[in-house]
Amino acid sequence: MIETLVPKAPDPLLKIIKMFREDPRTDKIDLGVGVYKDASGNTPVMHAVKDAEALLLASQKTKTYVGQQGDVDFLKLVGQLAFGEMARDFVSIQAVGGTGALRLGCDLLRESGAKRVVLPTPSWPNHPAVIAAARLERVDVPFFDVATQKIEIDRLIDGFVHATRGDAVILQACCHNPLGADFSLQQWQKLANACDARGIIPFIDLAYQGFGDGIDEDVAGARLLLERVPEAVIAVSEAKSFGVYRERVGALYVKAAEKARHAVASNLAAIARANYSMPPDHGAAIVREVLSDDALRQSWREELDQIRSHIKSTRKVLSAERVNSIPMHLIEDQKGMFSTLPLNDAQVTALREQHGIYMTDAARINVAGLREPDIPRFVDALRAIA
Ligand code: LMR
Repeated sequence: MIETLVPKAPDPLLKIIKMFREDPRTDKIDLGVGVYKDASGNTPVMHAVKDAEALLLASQKTKTYVGQQGDVDFLKLVGQLAFGEMARDFVSIQAVGGTGALRLGCDLLRESGAKRVVLPTPSWPNHPAVIAAARLERVDVPFFDVATQKIEIDRLIDGFVHATRGDAVILQACCHNPLGADFSLQQWQKLANACDARGIIPFIDLAYQGFGDGIDEDVAGARLLLERVPEAVIAVSEAKSFGVYRERVGALYVKAAEKARHAVASNLAAIARANYSMPPDHGAAIVREVLSDDALRQSWREELDQIRSHIKSTRKVLSAERVNSIPMHLIEDQKGMFSTLPLNDAQVTALREQHGIYMTDAARINVAGLREPDIPRFVDALRAIA
């Protein structure tokens, strides 16, 4: 039977990573995968993370299992960081990265009777695969005009007609991947009203807390919505906020009525058990150590502030440039790592083949991966193809 398998196309993002690695040009520019790079093009381990690892190495006495729910202190601290006091009433479970949290959430929704997930598009290229793997139907609702770089909130809300009570909508909390265009508080309010009125469950994807305007600012809209709706699912990734990409640090939180919480927790435990049994420890332990120690927390916040201001300054420099058909000036207002440029396939291919500049097929650039000395060459290449 195994011999009957047919090959699958490679993941579009992982394909770009591979192509970049294999390109022998020394002046190639990687704007593909969403990883922060400092001014010298490195992705260093944050100081607080290194210190937390040293503490763990010195103090850890056992490698026995952490338990089905995962690291309970980590879950409390991350919940508090993201949602404040509200998180105390959320059911939580540690996950294998943000993607693992999304998958747990989709599986839980299917168990609860949801049939479909509304996906505002463009979205993160892996969202469709996760929804499909959980055997949920996906309803794509375009909500952004790439040419003008504007969110079309009413178009998104009108798309809710394709969902029924108990279905879900994926909403990215901040630093939208791949658009960098975040909902305003007024738009969050509209989304909250629409979800509440139609009984659609918001599935919030939070992966870049602190990369936009600040730790609390980046979740203000999501908190507003969560206060309003009776039920919600939230996938959290700490890969970027703590620079612990390969440690796969994630968590899933569920807001539900008190009487439903035991069932939610036991369903999540059963889903996790059948997938990977119990979560990995190290990355979550690092985040727990950093968040529970005043000095480490302060050091982490300062480094995160530097990352954010570095991204903002790259955005500012880019936005001062003029390139024919690309509204460069809007890049400054966008948040986090990504922006999506109005380029077609041929232009993206030309940038890669002729100029050694790599971005995703849909013309998403990782602004946080662009080194300042590379900006003039990047802009010249854009002028050559746009
Ligand atoms: C990205 O979008 O580049 C990151 O979230 C990495 C990934 O796994 O896709």
